[in-house]
Amino acid sequence: EETHYHEFNVQEQAVKRLCKSHTIITVNGQFPGPTLEVRNGDAVIVKVTNKARYNVTIHWHGLRQMQNPWADGPEMVTQCPIMPGNSYTYRFSIQDQEGTLWWHAHSRWLRATVYGALVIHPKLGASYPFPKPKVELPIVLGEWWNRDIISVLRQALFSGAAPNISDALTINGQPGDLIKCSQQGTIKYSVNSGDTVLLRVINAALNQQLFFTVANHKLTVVATDAVYTKPFTTTVIMVGPGQTTDVLLTADQKRGRYYMAARAYATARNAPFDNTTTTAILQYKYATSRPILPTLPAFNDTNTVTAFSNQIKSPGKTDVPLKIDENLFFAVGFGFFNCSPGPRCQGPNNTRFGASMNNVSFVLPTRTSLLQAYTNKIPNIYTLDFPPTPPVKFDYTGNVPRGLWQPVRGTKLYKLKFGANVQIVLQDTSIFSTEDHPVHLHGYHFYVVGQGFGNFKPSRDTSRFNLIDPPQRNTIDVPVGGWAAIRFVADNPGLWLMHCHIDTHLAWGFAMSFIVENGVGPSQTLLPPPADLPRC
Ligand code: C2O
Repeated sequence: EETHYHEFNVQEQAVKRLCKSHTIITVNGQFPGPTLEVRNGDAVIVKVTNKARYNVTIHWHGLRQMQNPWADGPEMVTQCPIMPGNSYTYRFSIQDQEGTLWWHAHSRWLRATVYGALVIHPKLGASYPFPKPKVELPIVLGEWWNRDIISVLRQALFSGAAPNISDALTINGQPGDLIKCSQQGTIKYSVNSGDTVLLRVINAALNQQLFFTVANHKLTVVATDAVYTKPFTTTVIMVGPGQTTDVLLTADQKRGRYYMAARAYATARNAPFDNTTTTAILQYKYATSRPILPTLPAFNDTNTVTAFSNQIKSPGKTDVPLKIDENLFFAVGFGFFNCSPGPRCQGPNNTRFGASMNNVSFVLPTRTSLLQAYTNKIPNIYTLDFPPTPPVKFDYTGNVPRGLWQPVRGTKLYKLKFGANVQIVLQDTSIFSTEDHPVHLHGYHFYVVGQGFGNFKPSRDTSRFNLIDPPQRNTIDVPVGGWAAIRFVADNPGLWLMHCHIDTHLAWGFAMSFIVENGVGPSQTLLPPPADLPRC
């Protein structure tokens, strides 16, 4: 076991894309940021120094951070921001996790450019549950904006309308050949005929679900969200923001050049989205032919997504909780705030866009972080009345009456006993539009025991749950106009955010937070805060 020490300088850097140069926030001037490579069991120390003009925090997406939410990173949830000129050192260890995760800023929309891969190899001497690949490549998918990302966010928050869409999608920071002014930067990966290649595909985009494929090659899925899966073969994968999918590919085609490509999977009715295709080139050594383009599913091809996600299973029988102590039902989706007509009310019918979970639109505290309020017993920062079920039952995926369009704003948390077996059914609503939502839970991996379309019906759907080999994830794609059911044991004490990983929805309030109480003894108790924890 090794300790990895890194310095992350959050700093501004002029970067040129799409024939234009502008200044973005980076880590160490790199875009995407540095890839962290560790082994299961290692310790990691990252000193983050903020040399930029915005507050920042860093989140290690998908790392369980057992007893240690202090290193988790969401701004005003587990820590106050690292202010310009200050630093904070994240200290954590990798416990029983292998595969691909990533890190990103968790402060307003800075993660648009502040992100990188986090690769967790097996322990020394241990091996993958599949033949060792010849080549391993992190494939980080993202979005590029020609404007300063905070100004994009401000425009949306000021107008109350949907934000402007990104200007291009990217693979490892590059839009690729098909996009104007991008040929020169196109990323090329070279392989030998016969090589097996492990592609660690990460969706780091702010707001875009993405299809990904490689021309003429089959992809064998072997892990999602840093948990191994039962291998299966497909031609296309769908990765939601926050999710990762590891696929094996064999270079068994004619010596040549092949595009890998990603484009949007977009389900919200009439909502604009970035409809560009980003590419990189997989080239066999010495091949010079014109690269072959793959076909990608149509932007609204939900059938392909369903068929793909239904194939994801754990490698064998799991220890998914069978007896449930906390049976929660969260109706999630859009909502609208009434406001008086004017520049700040450019949502539909003079409203402001909002989003909610069980009709609560989440508001971050401003005085101190939730975790500090919890551990220091500071009153009036949050309440513990997050509703375990929706305040009103209605036809979630039908025509929703206008009276239900308006959520309440609040910082409402839900308390879980240590060790409780938790089930959450996440139900998409059709207020304004149905849309699929990648919902992420911090500090946990959960089993995905069921997914379906329409309203969740316990009498029918519970009996169909997969309680044998459900996959484990940290981010679940709740199907458009449908539901997903997850289960986990509340074995990680602390305070953990749950939210839609589409940042637009998060900014509109699609979030809530759990407090998981301490159990008995030192291995079940929240660790004390580090001495250099930032203050607000
Ligand atoms: Cu990857 Cu709360 O986020």
